[in-house]
Amino acid sequence: MMRTPASLLIVGGGVAGLALALELADTRPVTLLRPASDDHGASRWAQGGIAAVLSPDDDIEAHIQDTLDAGDGLCDVGAVRFTVEHGRQAIDWLIQLGMPFTPDPDPRSHYPYHLTREGGHGARRVIHAADATGRALIETLLHHVKRHPGITLHDDFMVIDLLGDGTGCLGARCLDRAGRLHELRAGDTVLATGGASGLYRHTTSPHPACGEGMMMAAELGCELRNLEFQQFHPTCLYDPDGPPFLISEALRGEGGYLRTLDGHRFMPSIDPRAELAPRDIVARAIDTEMHRSHSDHVWLDMTHLPADQVMRQFPTIYGHCIGRGLDITDSPIPVVPAAHYSCGGIASDLTGATDVPHLYAIGEVAYTGLHGANRMASNSLLECLVFAHAAADRLKRAASRPRPGTDVSPIVIPPAHTTRLAPDRIAAMMERLRTIMSQYVGIVRHDEGLHRASAQLAALSQESHELRARHAPDIALSRLDQAARLATLVVAAARERRESRGLHFNLDCSAHATEPPHPSRQRV
Ligand code: SIN
Repeated sequence: MMRTPASLLIVGGGVAGLALALELADTRPVTLLRPASDDHGASRWAQGGIAAVLSPDDDIEAHIQDTLDAGDGLCDVGAVRFTVEHGRQAIDWLIQLGMPFTPDPDPRSHYPYHLTREGGHGARRVIHAADATGRALIETLLHHVKRHPGITLHDDFMVIDLLGDGTGCLGARCLDRAGRLHELRAGDTVLATGGASGLYRHTTSPHPACGEGMMMAAELGCELRNLEFQQFHPTCLYDPDGPPFLISEALRGEGGYLRTLDGHRFMPSIDPRAELAPRDIVARAIDTEMHRSHSDHVWLDMTHLPADQVMRQFPTIYGHCIGRGLDITDSPIPVVPAAHYSCGGIASDLTGATDVPHLYAIGEVAYTGLHGANRMASNSLLECLVFAHAAADRLKRAASRPRPGTDVSPIVIPPAHTTRLAPDRIAAMMERLRTIMSQYVGIVRHDEGLHRASAQLAALSQESHELRARHAPDIALSRLDQAARLATLVVAAARERRESRGLHFNLDCSAHATEPPHPSRQRV
């Protein structure tokens, strides 16, 4: 049996989890659970960058206002101000760690790093590492995490449930690679498990989370908020035979145009910000155009920009597309919206604390109020960093209060059932779930579709829950059960919101409601 003196357990090894581990490891022993394969989660696939007020030509109030505008009346102003005001500190911390941000090639620039633009931002404020910011960020943080003696990294445990009693969260129940069940106890547990884009068929990253962290927290008593606001990134590469691949909003930030299949630029007639309108508006416009023209994509055109600029600024995207037989410097890119980011999640405060004592949530799994009804581009990596730092400050203070019985090695638990459910059956049920969500709970919704989704998901959820209770513990079966139950909550939230706002657009109530908006709240 392995010895794991964990007083702090972090579940999830994306930007939020790694940043928190690094911030805390000098103070208390940290156990960090992250998937063995780096292509899991969303952080690694982020291309654009991190939004922060860094240029002397920009200002904090402008970033706050742009975030509030994108959030369509549902942001928590306190959370927005808190996040934006801590932006520079988060970027300076990364620079100290050696993050390879792209330098500004213009010697007259007042800031040494290049700042790009993305949708909703009224200024250049997105700092980036070429077009692979997430990968560079994960590599930078992981480099330090792997060398820190206070951090125990496990890539062999997958969490299936949280442990709790009357005093709060006690850690997590996990499966190892051999399918054995373990209890990992910890004084404090932090979920940094990502969002719920995996509830949909088409996503911008290959292995997104399916909301398992949200559901585990809900089962322990946490409130979930704003689940109906699922963001679809407007431009994923349309490549039916290839892997999901994001085409960064920074291409539009640097001058790319969206065109119909017959070459007409359609965004200027929809919004004065044209291609740089917030994402909900651009994704809906593309969806509408695809329906109007019965097409399965639109074009993103970079061919009017100098080829060397496109290749220099977007080497990852250029290289990927060349590998798929497309030269983006002389041909337009076929693009389609795809599920990208969950604006809702576990209700948490400005230190990441949830309703359940000793349980914290940071990053995409959390609802902090920053994003409101529609996240502005590149605010999410900022949120990961700012809330990791804030949670670390709070958890440092809690380090001197150990909880008896929580600082122990993993305990192997004998399972109640040993019969395994066939993987094909689990995969087919997950596919059914994703089909329902994509058909009825996507970019444009209507009452009848939401009603059908609700009935079909209730049946699927009951079936998967019963199967889970009667079979050997299995990671795919646990994920299916959690995804099905979360999907029913997403649909419930969407049905309860009798208006269209931000990312939630319902043809049967297509305007804002007249009364002031509130976040939706779900509990199990
Ligand atoms: C992008 O590069 O377009 C993604 C950035 C984000 O989702 O914030």
